[in-house]
Amino acid sequence: MKGMVFTEFLELVERTWSPALVDELVESCDLPSGGAYTSVGTYDHREMVSLVVALSARTGQPPDDVLQWFGRGLFGSLAGSYPRFVDGHADAFSMLAGIEAVIHVEVRKLYPDAELPVFKISRPDAQTLVLDYRSPRCLDALAHGLIDACVERFGGGVHVQRVPLGPTHADGSRFTLVLQ
Ligand code: HEM
Repeated sequence: MKGMVFTEFLELVERTWSPALVDELVESCDLPSGGAYTSVGTYDHREMVSLVVALSARTGQPPDDVLQWFGRGLFGSLAGSYPRFVDGHADAFSMLAGIEAVIHVEVRKLYPDAELPVFKISRPDAQTLVLDYRSPRCLDALAHGLIDACVERFGGGVHVQRVPLGPTHADGSRFTLVLQ
């Protein structure tokens, strides 16, 4: 997982809670990297899982909710750093329909070692966009937060539902987005 994801996470924790909580999380997790992330470095994604679980233990929010919260914040910083992926889209469906074939393709060019999920996209009717998420990292909740924030960015008015694609977490999740 790219270091920028970690630095964004720790910055969000610092802004939402405190610098002291950042230190506490890093110390309690016994991270192989020592918690010293650079945005261009690459780290084991399990360090993010440890940090999320540690924040969950301190805030009382389930890990899934923490990851979803982080996804919403991460969207803001990704959109700020890469406005070209947001600008020019009329609505959230237009942007999200290109997540696999456009956005993450460009991300792969910028960061050849990025660990990206796979999204299968379909548009069953004009009101509905379906995103099937699969990733060995099982960050469905992160995707959920990113999708929620993308919808909000374009003014809301879309209902987002997440259901598992199979019996295990590794099977992924289906996001069904319906225009309200
Ligand atoms: C401005 C637009 C976006 C940019 C620049 C971007 C870029 C990135 C980058 C750099 C990573 C980290 C790769 C790594 O850790 O090695 C990533 C991961 C990820 N992205 Fe995007 N992304 C964007 C929008 C989105 C949106 C809208 C979604 C949801 C539909 C999404 C879903 C994910 C997920 C879930 C991951 C975590 C990796 C995994 O699940 O395996 N991204 N993205």
